Amino acid sequence: MNIILVAAECAPWSKTGGLGDVAGALPKALARRGHRVMVVVPRYGNYSEPQDIGVRKYYKVDGQVKCNVSSRFIDGVDFVFMDSPVFRHRENAIYEGNRVDILKRMVLLSKAAVEVPWHVPCGGVCYGDGNLVFIANDWHTALLPVYLKAYYRDNGMMKYTRSVLVVHNIAHQVRARPAGGLRCCRSPGHYIDLFKLYDPVGGEHFNIFAAGLKAADQVVTVSHGYAWELKTSEGGWGLHEIIGENDWKFRGIVNGIDTEDWHPAVDVHLQSDGYTNYTVETVQEGKAQCKAGLQRELGLPVRPEVPLVGFIGRLDHQKGVDIIAEAIPWMASQDMQLVMLGTGRSDLEDMVRGFQGQYGDKVRSWVGFSVKMAHRITAGADILLMPSRFEPCGLNQLYAMVYGTVPVVHAVGGLRDTVLPFNPFEETGLGWTFDRAEPGKLIHALGNCFNTFWNYKKSWEGLQRRGMTQDLSWDHAAQLYEQVLVAAKFQW
Ligand code: GLC
Repeated sequence: MNIILVAAECAPWSKTGGLGDVAGALPKALARRGHRVMVVVPRYGNYSEPQDIGVRKYYKVDGQVKCNVSSRFIDGVDFVFMDSPVFRHRENAIYEGNRVDILKRMVLLSKAAVEVPWHVPCGGVCYGDGNLVFIANDWHTALLPVYLKAYYRDNGMMKYTRSVLVVHNIAHQVRARPAGGLRCCRSPGHYIDLFKLYDPVGGEHFNIFAAGLKAADQVVTVSHGYAWELKTSEGGWGLHEIIGENDWKFRGIVNGIDTEDWHPAVDVHLQSDGYTNYTVETVQEGKAQCKAGLQRELGLPVRPEVPLVGFIGRLDHQKGVDIIAEAIPWMASQDMQLVMLGTGRSDLEDMVRGFQGQYGDKVRSWVGFSVKMAHRITAGADILLMPSRFEPCGLNQLYAMVYGTVPVVHAVGGLRDTVLPFNPFEETGLGWTFDRAEPGKLIHALGNCFNTFWNYKKSWEGLQRRGMTQDLSWDHAAQLYEQVLVAAKFQW
């Protein structure tokens, strides 16, 4: 099959969250299964890789914007970068700026991406229409299924091409008042009904995600738990009814992880500064060394006996940083250490910096985006804390388990699907979960976790071993995606 994944970000070139990781890894797993795969993503920075350009083309979208196309073939996948002044120099400020400008960028990406297969040869061959499926991701490229239908399929140009829309996070939507609000989308008049939505919060409005969900041939979300939540009025953010109506083409597939990038045995970020690679056989010594390395690097007291808790994530309401804030006096009263890494809302960034100011002997705050630090915290911490209010899938808990770092998470969405609670009687499970995103619940779960860390070494090692020996690679998920792509292909 010919597959083109289109996303607003793609690791390692651009990443603000899990979407970037998925866009970087799922295509490679699909290519390993024998498909011809392409990724289309904006070129935000001055990356050196795609200078080995296969083809450059010029696009005129809406008669205004130029778009050069550059590409690079890596691990069986053509990574294709859309290069335009509107994308350039955004680095990791991908979603910043005024809403109309962001929307215009995404319109450009979605429009240009539909035509990419005509211009860029994949594996040396231009894609034909017959066997092609697009995978669009989140609201950013939710217009792609609409454009494909309205401008290319209805008139027979790409009659057999299909699209799948993946929902990574329904909370981010673009809504506008009727009459004019979405003019820059250039949505075809006869498709306007697809955009219409009424909900008690937004009232009557136009919604890009709604249109994408209706127009796509299949819809996937990134865990089973989140698939269920999306159909509830609390979890669907106004789109639950549309998702319910389209249940026949909707399913959850838990994300995998890129085990070349995220594996303690080969992790390049653990090969210097006193860190070390390790496996399930050497996890005790390996983690001890990484923990000491992390404590040293961050200027924390080098103490092997204290549980070191990590938090890695966007600093926003979703990730529950404010819940940590409420629990932090209790945490600081314990003999533990806490390391937090992330960027986001400036008030939360200040708050996280404040933690270090207040509890300097126990807490370190790294406000910023650092892939290297994310890897080092994942390896050096004993515990990873994820009090997310909602979490469609969550990748950090998966990375943590592969590194023998025990997750403590709010049991929601993908976190509930992937972190089986520890059962001390049967010695089963992978971590601790709490059933409400509240400080009291977090404290209770973390307290039990500390207790096991301090007093039940065998149980702790069992938790680590079970986490590390799971197969969390993309290979399984890619097989499930393949089923969805096939279903889309044969849908009329
Ligand atoms: C979004 C979600 C996260 C998910 C990721 C990749 O960032 O918030 O839960 O893991 O997308 O699908």
